[in-house]
Amino acid sequence: MKKKVKSFDDWLLVPQYSDIKSRKEIDISSNLSNDIKLNIPIISSPMSTVTEATMCNSIRKLGGLGIIHRYNSINFQTKLLSYTSEEKYKSAAIGVTGDYEERLASLVEAGLKILCIDIAHGDHILMKDCIKHVKENFSHLYIIAGNVSTGEGFQRLTDWGANAIRVSVGSGSICTTRIQTGHGIPTIEAVFECKNFKSKYGLDSKIIADGGIKNSGDIVKSLAAGADFVMLGSMLSGTKETPGKLMYSEDGKKYKAYNGMASKAAQKSWKGSYSSIEGVSSTVPYKGTLSKVLNEISSNIRSGLSYSGCRSIQELQENALFVEQTSFS
Ligand code: IMP
Repeated sequence: MKKKVKSFDDWLLVPQYSDIKSRKEIDISSNLSNDIKLNIPIISSPMSTVTEATMCNSIRKLGGLGIIHRYNSINFQTKLLSYTSEEKYKSAAIGVTGDYEERLASLVEAGLKILCIDIAHGDHILMKDCIKHVKENFSHLYIIAGNVSTGEGFQRLTDWGANAIRVSVGSGSICTTRIQTGHGIPTIEAVFECKNFKSKYGLDSKIIADGGIKNSGDIVKSLAAGADFVMLGSMLSGTKETPGKLMYSEDGKKYKAYNGMASKAAQKSWKGSYSSIEGVSSTVPYKGTLSKVLNEISSNIRSGLSYSGCRSIQELQENALFVEQTSFS
């Protein structure tokens, strides 16, 4: 099979007539389920340099969701989860091999409500087995699973029992999967395809666009293409609430680490060894508080909806018009 695919920068949204007089009229909330509502459609990546308890608590106050990463010991992850304050939104990630059953049991004991089954290639039989295990033992959990990059993968994970699915493979800013393995699909393309499957086959799982989202324009494009949520790593990295020490360059500039979870550095730090390196470790300029960064992003998303003349994410998905731009536009 051969097919041409496009990325965020190939697309623009057409500005349309608007009767919205204030951005306050615009609602950018999105629901994971009838019970679990987010006031902003933003989830922080379950990565060791992005989401631990401080990030979870802070992003919740601002309307989003944080998922405690799994690159640590079971005890440590369970402790982190117990430090998160809001009962209904307690979220953490597991893998599908090794200690995952024990890890899951420990997290559930600590009040886990939203489980993220977090693997690079989610369209996989081990994902099916893991979801089955979760359903049989802890049927009350809300399941986020992924990543997938095709409509068929999205449909399979929905059929297996996932409630929300992380969409895109090989697109993350710290990802080298495309280089190492030749595989991947740009995030917006994967979102278009999964949305198409969702409509065509009446699938009720949510789409989380994940990876390669560089700015608030990419967030608006993801939502317009059909994503219910976006997951952000790089855009939230370097904020005060991320784990890790503040570092200083020789000329006094502040930095923080931002590491791909499959990078050599990240693998060495959590399991003492490394194999199949598909990520890089990096540093990013210190960005200040999460509230400063997220409030700016939220305000830009509202402006984005206003340019399309829409008061909600659903209206945006119904009315958005995409145009393809060339490199000369
Ligand atoms: P970003 O927002 O573009 O930085 O992408 C973050 C996303 O990249 C995460 O939510 C994961 O889906 C993915 N990711 C995290 N670590 C790695 C890695 O080491 N290799 C490939 N993808 C990764």
